[in-house]
Amino acid sequence: MSQIKESTESSPQSSVLSPHKSLLVTGGAGFIGANFVHYWLRNYPDDKVVVLDALTYAGNKANLASVENHPGLLFVHGDIKDFDLVVNLLQDQELDTIVHFAAESHVDRSIHGPDAFVDTNITGTHTLLKAAQKVWLDPQSPVISPQSSPYRFHHISTDEVYGSLGPGDPGFSETTPYAPNSPYAASKAGSDFLVRAYYKTYGLPMTISNCSNNYGPYQHPEKLIPLLILNCLENKPLPIYGDGLNIRDWLYVEDHCRGIDLILKKGRIGETYNIGGNCEKTNLEVVNTVCSIMDELSPQSSVPRSQPYSSLLTFIKDRPGHDRRYAIDADKITAELAYTPVESFESGMRKTVEWYLQNLEWCKNVMGEDYQKWLAQNYS
Ligand code: NAD
Ligand code: TYD
Repeated sequence: MSQIKESTESSPQSSVLSPHKSLLVTGGAGFIGANFVHYWLRNYPDDKVVVLDALTYAGNKANLASVENHPGLLFVHGDIKDFDLVVNLLQDQELDTIVHFAAESHVDRSIHGPDAFVDTNITGTHTLLKAAQKVWLDPQSPVISPQSSPYRFHHISTDEVYGSLGPGDPGFSETTPYAPNSPYAASKAGSDFLVRAYYKTYGLPMTISNCSNNYGPYQHPEKLIPLLILNCLENKPLPIYGDGLNIRDWLYVEDHCRGIDLILKKGRIGETYNIGGNCEKTNLEVVNTVCSIMDELSPQSSVPRSQPYSSLLTFIKDRPGHDRRYAIDADKITAELAYTPVESFESGMRKTVEWYLQNLEWCKNVMGEDYQKWLAQNYS
């Protein structure tokens, strides 16, 4: 990764405006951010992508290894809370679009230590908004037309801001009232409100997407699906909270990236779009799917061989405030932007398991001391 053009501060660039998009991707070394960077450079190779990432425990430059030599990519190791750095990047790199992924993203960690969630998700988002306001909005013309602006602040949020659904409730729509239940969800809700306020008050051109649970390559093994795959490989218990009947809607990460692309290209300024996978599953269904794909693709790791991986399933104490069900009503993005997920749960899960099995070195590197400490803290 040493070849990634890395900068801890911005460097002046030509002042000639490019006909192509110039994106600031915050959190681009994390799970979804890195998948988005791969997606974008593959589909828009002439665009400029500046990744700003603090490389917390969840960030990993190796996630960008396969694009490290791309001429359009600049990696900046820095914090979204660094106002001067963000202002300089927006100005010097002539960035017209912010795609804001950077966040503390794990619900369980937010239960153990909520402060970092307030700092990054609320204060960090606010710093980005202030920087975009300073560089993109003209203080001499308070009456602005965000609709015709060449700029865009796209904020990545979550369906968790809407709270929890009962078994027969319709899925979350963009007008469902916010009812966040975890410190993580509350901090994301706070950031969503700030983004909205900067549009309503200052005319900052923005869009928001609230998506369901993503899965796919490069996801940190603290999250359910990679945790299951890697625990199978180590013949460790597969920990399922409570009765395993909590329901999530699962979205293959590349489908999510396509949804964001559609919003950036055709979404209406000031609007929120929900992005889902059309794929509600109980956690027990998830664990059984992972186990049966693992039985097929990696039977040699199962000990004793006569037992399927599902024999490792272990029910453990429930997560406090554990939301029962999430589901997405994606009618708006489907009707307005013709979005539909391409991947089925079976095909997306197969790709995901295959990716982890083919990238054991990557897995080993993210399962170091820090990760072991986390496992001891959360599962002991
Ligand atoms: P992740 O935890 O894998 O990655 C977060 C990235 O942000 C990391 O690279 C980290 O280093 C970086 N980061 C953290 N604090 C930073 C800071 N102060 N400055 C700069 N960079 C910082 O998260 P993810 O799963 O890729 O999620 C990305 C976004 O999508 C988040 O906003 C999250 O709330 C949202 N989201 C995720 C899911 C999901 O299933 N993973 C679902 C809905 C919404
Ligand atoms: P997770 O991947 O943490 O996403 P979120 O909580 O944001 O939805 O968890 C997905 C589901 O899996 C959630 O219902 C909690 C459950 N879960 C377990 O049962 N065991 C685990 O070890 C983890 C990490 C999650």
